[in-house]
Amino acid sequence: MRVGVLTGGGDCPGLNAVIRAVVRRGVRDHGFEFLGFRDGWRGPLEGLTMELGIEQCRGILPRGGTILGSSRTNPFSIDGGVEQIKDNLASAGVDALVAIGGEDTLGVATKLAELGVDVVGVPKTIDNDLSGTDFTFGFDTAVNIATEAIDRLHTTAESHHRVLVVEVMGRHAGWIALHAGIAGGASAVLIPEQPFDIEALCRHVETRFETSYAPIIVVSEGAVPVEGGDMTLVSGEKDAFGHVRLGGIGDRIASEIEARTGKESRAVVLGHVQRGGTPTAFDRWLATRFGLHAADAVAAGDFGTMMALRGTNIERVPLSEGTAELKLVSPEEYAEAAVFFG
Ligand code: F6P
Repeated sequence: MRVGVLTGGGDCPGLNAVIRAVVRRGVRDHGFEFLGFRDGWRGPLEGLTMELGIEQCRGILPRGGTILGSSRTNPFSIDGGVEQIKDNLASAGVDALVAIGGEDTLGVATKLAELGVDVVGVPKTIDNDLSGTDFTFGFDTAVNIATEAIDRLHTTAESHHRVLVVEVMGRHAGWIALHAGIAGGASAVLIPEQPFDIEALCRHVETRFETSYAPIIVVSEGAVPVEGGDMTLVSGEKDAFGHVRLGGIGDRIASEIEARTGKESRAVVLGHVQRGGTPTAFDRWLATRFGLHAADAVAAGDFGTMMALRGTNIERVPLSEGTAELKLVSPEEYAEAAVFFG
């Protein structure tokens, strides 16, 4: 059997660990041959391939990024894209696909599976917002990087009596902010799921100065002010690739705090640093197990499924379960965490 592998969406620590595990298990235990598709769905769409075997996977376990490259190409938004993919898979002699990606990449995989393409999915995102799985790989690394940054920012907050607003990734979900905020001892955490009241935040800042040193406020890039409040956001502009540019909310909040409380404030945007570099041991462990199980799913002909961590087990769930809706921070989880803030 000839199996194609692709990685789509934002790069994420652990992608190479998945690729390595799929290939090793596939070659050694199932006798598969592999073909790498480059740059996400653009690979099968444009016939961009690379050799992929045990040799190509040597030494990649601790490497960030993806040896296959990535893109956010969506064949469903391109005229004739799906037919082109089917033709290219057939002419490359590819019998099945392993698609490693987040919401968008697996959304495409879900639709292709419905159209008869034999595909299994592996969930990836630093945002941890895919349903069906307890955790995605990449998240633990991102949280560790953000936590280390928060640890380092405490000294400036304390020494300079400055409010530090740390903007972390998370367009739709506040998992990175919540986990890193708790782990780093932040004073407040703002997430997309719970619109924030800038005035209440400023009162918190003032109280915090009276009782302790300057606060550290962690904010997800997708956090929004409450409707009807006196802080409004200019909606994100689209870049040349049609993606809404986020970023900037940390800076906006720092300016508002400074203007409203008179306390000197700085914003730190962690950005793509959170996705870079070597994966943590947890992410290597999870990514490797996802890869092993994905190869087994292909061998079993269990297509249209996604690997999922349930407790400590890796299970196969329908792809649609992972992509139907995002996994968001519930009001209860947010309220529970608030015990640590302040
Ligand atoms: O989905 C992962 C993610 O890192 C988000 O947290 C972030 O909003 C987005 O990707 C950034 O995408 P890009 O690298 O295309 O700017």
